[in-house]
Amino acid sequence: MRILVRGGRIIDPSLGLDFVGDLLIEEGKIKGLAPKIEVTEEVREIDAKGLLVIPGLVDIHVHLREPGEEWKEDLESGTRAALSGGVLRLACMPNTKPPNDSPEVTTYILEEAKKKAYVTIYPIASITKGQLGKELTEFGRLKRAGAVALSDDGKWVADASLMKKALLYAKNFDLPIISHCEDPALSYKGQINEGNLSAKLGLKGIPFSAETIAVVRDLLLAKETQSPLHLAHLSVKENIPFLRWAKEEGIPFSAETCPHYFTLTEREVDGYNTLAKVNPPLRTEEDVQAIKIALKEGLIEVIASDHAPHSPLEKEVEFELASFGMIGLQFLLPLSFNLVREGLLNHLKLFEYLITNPSRVLKIDPPCFQEGRPAEIVLFNPEKEWIVTPEVLQSKSKNTPLLGRTLKGKVEAVILKEKVFLI
Ligand code: DOR
Ligand code: ZN
Repeated sequence: MRILVRGGRIIDPSLGLDFVGDLLIEEGKIKGLAPKIEVTEEVREIDAKGLLVIPGLVDIHVHLREPGEEWKEDLESGTRAALSGGVLRLACMPNTKPPNDSPEVTTYILEEAKKKAYVTIYPIASITKGQLGKELTEFGRLKRAGAVALSDDGKWVADASLMKKALLYAKNFDLPIISHCEDPALSYKGQINEGNLSAKLGLKGIPFSAETIAVVRDLLLAKETQSPLHLAHLSVKENIPFLRWAKEEGIPFSAETCPHYFTLTEREVDGYNTLAKVNPPLRTEEDVQAIKIALKEGLIEVIASDHAPHSPLEKEVEFELASFGMIGLQFLLPLSFNLVREGLLNHLKLFEYLITNPSRVLKIDPPCFQEGRPAEIVLFNPEKEWIVTPEVLQSKSKNTPLLGRTLKGKVEAVILKEKVFLI
């Protein structure tokens, strides 16, 4: 079967391409791309005028909840949401039940994914057994089972000597360590950003220092061990001088943020809105602006969703009892595209942050338009507006403070190998 994607703006950060033209797919593989392709044989034409034609996004921070909490999400529903958001490869975090701290769980995820996942899944295993921060998992066996990285996401490895060992040991297996930077001694029982709002609402705050102290310690350990470190979901302005310093020092690190940290502020939780309760918490307008500057300067070069589904059981409760997290797979591209609209990033840079840089962190080949590569193609309409309703959200969970809002930019279609999905 042949598919010809006609007249779209073809952007590929791996190949450094950005031009208007045609893309030909044959037998599920990229056959060619050029300003104009003429085909004499039978072909299915897809009109892409006004659309961006991009390789699939790679989201390295997703919670799929399988095994153990399938009422919130499972591999089928989570990857359906991913597909709808143009995310064609994703890495899933290990805080499942049981946690992914053994080759058996890693294998289970990969086997189940073969049966029901719409997109490619890369499991992240935990750094410590049970994510308890006491004893390292068996990195070599986890790698052989298919783990691509290690993280205790949701928790920081508070014991510095254990974290140092983890970094050293992980380097032998070529596994990056992803750190959830939050010093629990400072964030203990915290609910939202610490400041005037937390005082007004009578909720215990999570100070910026809980994050930045953890960031700095982990950067120092990465410097000492020269092992690759990835800093997950950064949210506060105080990190920035330290990220700049780490770049100057040549420390082997990468940093990530999520659309909610450059789009939303703590004001979302006013009125005790549990849908806006997330960890790290939404911060202030100043933090939002600082995160944007960090993206513009390339101090943060990965954007991930931190898709964290929770059901009404975990969200329609008192604020203190509600779980942290919001869904994000279908918002990743529309919200990130605002960075282009605002002139902070150009198209190629944005897609580096969403495709090539996250792939580099996981040491995988990014989806790209080189001839012979499998078709992993997203057609994105940057002008199309849509309203966030429970019906359009493909995740089993609908926990997002964006419900009812209008977003600009929508994935219209996905071509995945031989299949065409109209979204
Ligand atoms: O808000 C969050 N939710 N932050 C995390 O680090 C974990 C996640 C979850 O698993 O729900
Ligand atoms: Zn986290």
